[in-house]
Amino acid sequence: MIRLDVNHRQYDIDVDNATPLLWVLREQLGLTGAKYGCGIGMCGNCTVLVDGRAVLSCNAPVAGFSGKKIITIEGIGEPDALHPVQQAWLDENVPECGYCQPGQILTAIALLHQQPDPDDRAIDEAMSRVLCRCGTYLRIRKAIKRAVTGKAAGQP
Ligand code: FES
Ligand code: FES
Repeated sequence: MIRLDVNHRQYDIDVDNATPLLWVLREQLGLTGAKYGCGIGMCGNCTVLVDGRAVLSCNAPVAGFSGKKIITIEGIGEPDALHPVQQAWLDENVPECGYCQPGQILTAIALLHQQPDPDDRAIDEAMSRVLCRCGTYLRIRKAIKRAVTGKAAGQP
């Protein structure tokens, strides 16, 4: 039995210690926002926040997350009170197919937590850890800048 703190709720879960966190989130807790892409730590689609940092959940055994605060995309904002990064994503029309976007948004939140006003290079370096096959990276960069300033690029 493992106790997990996910999106500010406590869960006692009967699961093999070696089960990757991603599958506990998706199959045990029904939190399907974190996506499976590669399963080998290469694509970033399974990203969640753990104690505020962006962490891959597909190849990390669940036992390592006991006592840590896990936030998935379901724990970010509310429909009528979006997180500033979610609002910026909407304002910049970032998503295309959407598959990678939970990982992108959580990675952006972690980046802004560590660097409140990142430059292009820092944004590109952080966001390249999440693979977007639709190629939304330019809008992602704009959305992160909008989340920092509250304005679109070039607006006074
Ligand atoms: S599914 Fe986790 S890095 Fe690809
Ligand atoms: S929006 Fe389609 S993979 Fe990123």
